[in-house]
Amino acid sequence: MTEITSAVSLEKKDNIGILAIDNPPVNALGIKVRKGLADGIEMAEKDSDIEAMVIMGRGRAFSAGADIREFGKPMEEPHLPDVLGKIENCSKPVVAAIQGTTFGGGLETALSCHFRIAVKNASFGLPEVKLGLLPGASGTQRLPRVMGVEKALNMITSGNPIGVKEALDSGLIDEIAEGELEDAAVAFAKKVLSEKRPIVKVSEKEDQIAYAREHPEIFDEFRKKNARRFRGFEAPEACIKAVEAAVNKPFKEGVKYERQLFAELMEGSQSAAQRYYFFAERQVSKIPDIPKDTPTYDINKVGIIGAGTMGGGIAMNFANAGIPVKIVDQKQDFLDRGLGVIRDNYERSASKGKMTQDDVEKRMGLITGTMSMEDLSDVDLVIEAVYENIDLKKDIFKRLDSICKDGAILATNTSYLDVNEIAAETGRPEWVLGLHFFSPANVMRLLEIVRAEKTSKEVLATALAIARKIRKIAAVVGVCYGFAGNRMFAQRKRESERLVLEGAPPTQIDKVIYDFGFPMGPFALADLIGIDVGWDRDNSNSRTLQEVLCEMGRLGQKSGAGYYKYEKGSRTPIQDPEVEKIIADFAAKQGIKRRDDITDEEILERCIYPIINEGAKIIEEKIAVRPSDLDVIWVNGYGWPIYRGGPMFYADLVGLDKVLETMKKYEAKFGDEWKPAGLLEKLVNEGKKFGDLNG
Ligand code: 3HC
Repeated sequence: MTEITSAVSLEKKDNIGILAIDNPPVNALGIKVRKGLADGIEMAEKDSDIEAMVIMGRGRAFSAGADIREFGKPMEEPHLPDVLGKIENCSKPVVAAIQGTTFGGGLETALSCHFRIAVKNASFGLPEVKLGLLPGASGTQRLPRVMGVEKALNMITSGNPIGVKEALDSGLIDEIAEGELEDAAVAFAKKVLSEKRPIVKVSEKEDQIAYAREHPEIFDEFRKKNARRFRGFEAPEACIKAVEAAVNKPFKEGVKYERQLFAELMEGSQSAAQRYYFFAERQVSKIPDIPKDTPTYDINKVGIIGAGTMGGGIAMNFANAGIPVKIVDQKQDFLDRGLGVIRDNYERSASKGKMTQDDVEKRMGLITGTMSMEDLSDVDLVIEAVYENIDLKKDIFKRLDSICKDGAILATNTSYLDVNEIAAETGRPEWVLGLHFFSPANVMRLLEIVRAEKTSKEVLATALAIARKIRKIAAVVGVCYGFAGNRMFAQRKRESERLVLEGAPPTQIDKVIYDFGFPMGPFALADLIGIDVGWDRDNSNSRTLQEVLCEMGRLGQKSGAGYYKYEKGSRTPIQDPEVEKIIADFAAKQGIKRRDDITDEEILERCIYPIINEGAKIIEEKIAVRPSDLDVIWVNGYGWPIYRGGPMFYADLVGLDKVLETMKKYEAKFGDEWKPAGLLEKLVNEGKKFGDLNG
């Protein structure tokens, strides 16, 4: 075996040369790999003992693509497109032997080989679009040439991988390999030689793109069909343009055009945000004082208190992961309703083809209801999900402490309340923490793990492990009112409500926030969630706009009217002059001076900058580990557009000096709530960014 570089080796098996990439953890195509592949092909060309080549990856991947850590820095030669050109132009047959992840540049490498075989665990994808990019080493030109334009467009613009069967059916691979991959690949290469199969250069294939050449309308149809999914993103349109070029231009020109689009995207802020976010999401689970080898406890049985929307959604996460769940509620009626909603959710997924009826029954079989809290004596984890009332929660934890076995973790799903206070009700505060799920809990990926003062490291490590198991993205936060996410969110809520009273119609505010990239604005969101959430019906006395609207029965979508009106059975908000009058009347009563000159810019500043400022305070108070964790929270829990990275990344992009100046401008106008965080001032003084604190 010859070590060409520290990441690529060349070995001969009879007349076959095996070029193996070994660059843990995922065989990213950094400089050592690119150089190794290029030199390896050259060596094989010159070696008369070698008649055919196999390229493969060691470890868990063929290759996960370009090394993202190299992006944004000057790229060392050889560049990937040149390496791939060398592979395709090799005069000896080259077989890609594929296992595990084959993504991005990894798949582009496989596509530059003359043949591809793969084992069953292989997955193939071009996820560049998720980094705000497009495949930049001829993937947009080669993929349509092997699988046709429509399938390629789907893969490239979604970034989602396909499995080995789909790869075979679509023509992406030639064969599924049985047994040991290396042996199968050598045998395949020998067969190619013995059958004198002609070398297949994907760049020269035309048959799969011929249809699209005659039907150029498929591109606009694709654009139209996916307009909602692509809204705000720059990369998908670039992907489509590049595939159009694959159809309309000769290969070489198409590659050039793809390269140009790639470079443009790479320089833009969207890709910078999405690449930043990629690492932020991987960093969030790393807690400085919880090393990887911190012992964790087995969680084999879970108890949930409360069969409402939240409890039910939480239960589904565990059932999906094959973990049995007991749900406790006070009345059989509540349990029946809760379990009914869970079943309906599963049935809906089954009717969409996302799971089989058998899966539905299996999951339902894992969820049982009980009216007796004593039935939780054998569970390893309890999650309390009753409504927000500290006395009720304290009472529940006191009871749990006497019922649950030693070694059971006790968690509260509170969104705001003091987890230390709740933990203090038990004789085991080190086993208590917050697991704050976001609604709908079976859908939303975010989980805030609230680390209380006495939560033990092992319990925290277990919570992180369980989050992974139920496929959540977990951010560890400390105890304070609203923790990280809701505490920041409250700032936007406050300002948007003031803005309507000052004269900006809900439609204007919602449009500004929607155009920024959120899925909806604050008022459409309030109507969706229900304006009565948090409303104290018994003590309501028209003191706030919320109270006024709720007293009038304008509860949002569910009552047909809120900040908007809704036609029966429709979720589409319709502007409602009546609500604008209600708001104006209420503002008059409050003595609020209304203006008709509130600009979109003011709305954006007032809705976004206080979120950033609160984030800075949260970092200062060590409620969150690092600024990028707050970005992960906002992207996954609050619909912050990923192409803007998250509020803290966005602040760095805008410039912290501008954020500070804007905070000061409004502080002068509105007072203390706009007082800049000490950390914000400090970073500006030191010429630093939030990004410098991510470490
Ligand atoms: N470059 C650099 N590092 C990478 C990487 C890449 N392409 N892919 C993964 N890593 C790193 C991760 O940051 C992580 O590092 P850490 O342990 O220090 O945190 C480690 O590899 C393991 O990754 P994960 O924790 O994500 O492990 P998983 O097993 O959950 O997932 C994966 C593995 C499916 C490969 C996933 O990491 C992934 O999707 N990677 C991104 C792949 C990608 O986007 N490829 C396209 C790159 S762009 C490109 O190829 C451009 C080309 O067209 C020119």
